[in-house]
Formats: sequence, structure tokens, C-alpha cells
Amino acid sequence: MKRFVDQVVVITGAANGIGKACAQRFAQEGANIACLDITTADNEATAAECRSLGVEALALLCDVTDVDNIRLVIDAILEKWRRIDTLVASAGIYTGTPLAEVPLQQWQRTIDINLTGAFLTNQAIAPIIMKQRRGSIINLSSMAGKTSWPASAEYSSSKSGVIGLTRSVAMELAPYGATANAVCPGNTLTDMVRNVAAKVGATDGMTGEEWLDMRANDCPMKRLAEPWEIAGVIAFLASEDSRYLTGQAIEVDGGMVMS
Ligand SMILES: NC(=O)c1ccc[n+]([C@@H]2O[C@H](COP(=O)([O-])OP(=O)(O)OC[C@H]3O[C@@H](n4cnc5c(N)ncnc54)[C@H](O)[C@@H]3O)[C@@H](O)[C@H]2O)c1
Repeated sequence: MKRFVDQVVVITGAANGIGKACAQRFAQEGANIACLDITTADNEATAAECRSLGVEALALLCDVTDVDNIRLVIDAILEKWRRIDTLVASAGIYTGTPLAEVPLQQWQRTIDINLTGAFLTNQAIAPIIMKQRRGSIINLSSMAGKTSWPASAEYSSSKSGVIGLTRSVAMELAPYGATANAVCPGNTLTDMVRNVAAKVGATDGMTGEEWLDMRANDCPMKRLAEPWEIAGVIAFLASEDSRYLTGQAIEVDGGMVMS
């Protein structure tokens, strides 16, 4: 299936995890990929992998909290390809800190990257999509945006905010035939989750692996997600098959929130 031939997909947080899986999936389906991340070597590796699949790809150093940086990067993308069809806003962090121990700076950093970063990239790309009168924005929220648990105050707040942001962007894009949706993954096997498992597991007297097993057991499907399973839903949301689907926050969590 090659649904995105000659289209341009911008992915933040493309160096790792779900962002990387999205880059691979869109490249497999023919899209040219702009990989945005604060890391350099891993991001270049993602772009190189996309190029090996026969598409064009740029690795661009971009901090999603830096509005000037975003502007420069978007200019570079437009200069090369003259269009942007899809934004996947995947850059994010998670600390797993109990409420009483969250310093204000840490609260602000999580909100800056997870929520303001999505806002700034949506704000930069939505006008381009409106002008083209086609395109899609997919923001990474989380099941933590719909429910929560201890040691997630700033993360859950940021991810609930992403759902609100997405709905408003969807309202503005709708008259142009374009869509915005949020995806709310459950625990997905990436560096983010492995790091949190090690940290939160230790406070509960468990190894990271034991904590991950516990989370898998909590899930109706009795397993955690692989990054490619989230990327598949994101690709659907960027495809023609979902043109009438907008403003939604879709749980891709093996039934966690539902249960
Ligand atoms: N893994 C999960 O279980 C899970 C669950 C629900 C939601 N999510 C969300 O999915 C998204 C991707 O998560 P992941 O698991 O792939 O994480 P990850 O840690 O594997 O990858 C995140 C990427 O974001 C990049 N990044 C961090 N700060 C940045 C910044 N300021 N500017 C640009 N890039 C930055 C990192 O360098 C990294 O490459 C995040 O928004 C996360 O909150 C993940």
C-alpha cells in the first residue's frame, strides 16, 4: 500500500520511538519525510533509513519549544518540497515524579515540550495546510490525557491539553477540508516507557521489566504496544480513508481506558 507518494510528512520527535516508527511507515508508503528532533545522530539515522526506502528525507535539528527554530525549519522544508501534507507532533517527555516532588521548572519544561511544542508546530503548519486546502495534523496525546495515575501530574496535564488544542485546531481546519486528531497510546515499548519503568518500578520495589509486566497485565490485551502499531493508526489518520474524521482523541491502548 503506497498512500502517500510525493506527499510531505513533518514528524517531531522523529529520532526515536513512535516518531521514528511513523517516519518508517510514511516512507514505506512513499512520503518524503522531514525528521525534526533535538538529537542529531539518531535523527540522521531515521532520515537515512527513510532514504534507503527510496524517498527523500531531511534530518533537521529542531527544538519544538523554540518558535524561531521552528520557523527556520519550516522555511527549509517549504524551500525543498513546496508543500506539507501531514504533521505528526510526537516530541515529548515523561518524568514519572510524585506530585510533591515536582519542581516548578520540571512542570514548566513538560508543559513547554508536550503542550507548547504541539501548539507551536500546529500554529506553524496549520496555515500551510489551509492554503493547500488539504492535509492532516496528528498530535500525540496519551491515555494519560484521558485518565491518570500517581506521579503523572505534569504529564497528564500536558496530554489533556493536547486533546483540547487538537479539537480547536480541528475546528479551524474543518472549513478547508483538512483534519486534526489526537492519538492516545497506551504503554508503548520505547525508550520513554523503559526509562519510566526503571524509575517508577524502583519506587515500587520492582525492576523495570517487572513494572512493564505489571502494566501489560493491567491491559485487557495483556501486552504493551509496539511503536509500529501506533504508527499504523497515525498513517490511517493521514490517509484519504479518514477525511471525515476530525477532532477526535483516539485511544490506541489495547482497551486500557475503556476498561
Ligand atoms: N511510549 C509510550 O508509552 C507513550 C504513551 C502515550 C503517549 N506517548 C507520547 O508519544 C510521543 C512519543 O513518545 P515515545 O515513547 O516515542 O518517546 P521517546 O522518548 O522514545 O521519543 C521522543 C522523542 O522526542 C524528542 N524530543 C524531546 N524533547 C524535544 C524537543 N524539545 N524538541 C524536539 N524533539 C524533542 C526526543 O529527542 C525523542 O527523540 C510523546 O509525545 C509521548 O508523550 C508515548
